[in-house]
Amino acid sequence: MQDVIVVEGGKSLFGEITVDTAKNAVLPIIAGCILTKKEVVLKNIPNISDINKMFEILSLMGADVKRDLRLKTASVKVEELTTVEIPSGLAKEIRSSIFMLGSLIARYKKARVTYPGGCDIGSRPIDLHLSGLRDLGVKITEDYGYIECDATAMHSGVVHLDFPSVGATENIMMSAVLLEGQTTIMNSAKEPEIIDLASFINSLGGKIRGAGTSTIVIEGVESLSGGEYTPIPDRIITGTYLIAGCMTQGSIKLNNARYQDVYALLNKLRNAGAKIDYDQKSISISINKRPLASASIDTQPFPGFPTDLQAQMLALQTISEGISIVTENLFETRFKQVPELLKMGAKITVKDRMAIVKGVSSLHGAEVVSYDLRGGASLVLAGLVADGVTKVFNPHFIDRGYEDFEQKLSMLGASVRREQAKP
Ligand code: UD1
Repeated sequence: MQDVIVVEGGKSLFGEITVDTAKNAVLPIIAGCILTKKEVVLKNIPNISDINKMFEILSLMGADVKRDLRLKTASVKVEELTTVEIPSGLAKEIRSSIFMLGSLIARYKKARVTYPGGCDIGSRPIDLHLSGLRDLGVKITEDYGYIECDATAMHSGVVHLDFPSVGATENIMMSAVLLEGQTTIMNSAKEPEIIDLASFINSLGGKIRGAGTSTIVIEGVESLSGGEYTPIPDRIITGTYLIAGCMTQGSIKLNNARYQDVYALLNKLRNAGAKIDYDQKSISISINKRPLASASIDTQPFPGFPTDLQAQMLALQTISEGISIVTENLFETRFKQVPELLKMGAKITVKDRMAIVKGVSSLHGAEVVSYDLRGGASLVLAGLVADGVTKVFNPHFIDRGYEDFEQKLSMLGASVRREQAKP
């Protein structure tokens, strides 16, 4: 029997919660554990399905992985892997398995992977990952859906990315960590998770500089040591709760939240009429009137407005005063939640990569289906402000990226629970 998230709308959110560690920081860091033979202890690791699958992949490949879910720690020791082939079944379920390409190449000079899966939000090619590796002398052959990498003739050098892809930057960065000489990535992605991956690798003795800028320089080192590392808080979870606070005209404080990682969103929420306060470790939001629509929201690579907050922001626009134009520049099919919002009374017109949203004074509850992680979360947010009961089906998508979503929203006063759907 499948689960459903049941939301009884109409309650404003009040109180404070702590934001979990960033999934998108943890996933490449797990791949980065392959770079060292020594034990790495990762702290504050959430129990969410994407992270669990990534650990499972590493374990299946022969790594020693020990999780303590209560303490939220994971100890990883990759003394030797038994295979350099990423198990295809799991790789198809989780796109970040592709990050292992870079670290496998660095450590073993070879890797074999299938094309990765993940949320269906567009075509999501990996051509930039592969062309960057080719520029460094990796021989790549593709057949029957498998990508074979032979890095025996790999050399340091310069890679110029045509687009600042997060995954390609992380993969190429990892591939060069143990390579003799200096490797430069130009037009690299600048996301906070890139800085965190570099900080993690540097904490083990790597030499990476420039992470967070558009030029990253990696000085190869002979080997990395072990160590302990706590990845950064999740900026998308931070943003999701801030938007929920704004939609419900509430007043909430998020601990373990970094304002510098969500600045583009804070600006929009301030323009909507919310009062925002922050310090080095927390962000508070409060608003006691209907939010004003943002004239335009354009998703861009960091520090622009993140594509991973587009769906949640669009949900906010559905009940804001005025008209908003939401343009999705990164992924082509990221409006799958729109037909579901229409069932709740939203007024949205989608044309190609643009959604025109006319704010309505209220939504009504409905049975809706999530088709991807962030779209699913946005439907729960819409349910928080809808009259009556909203049932969000396919919550497993939400479980990929939010730990205890219903519990955390309930702690803030929402009426949200998980039930088994009746057949
Ligand atoms: C990462 C995030 C994801 C987020 C995205 C954009 C992780 C685990 N996932 O995904 O949540 O939505 O960044 O911020 O960190 N592209 C190519 N060729 C490539 C690679 C990418 O054309 O080889 C395109 C993609 O199709 C997309 C754009 O570049 O249109 C951005 O993709 P990218 O930055 O690589 O995102 P991911 O690393 O997949």
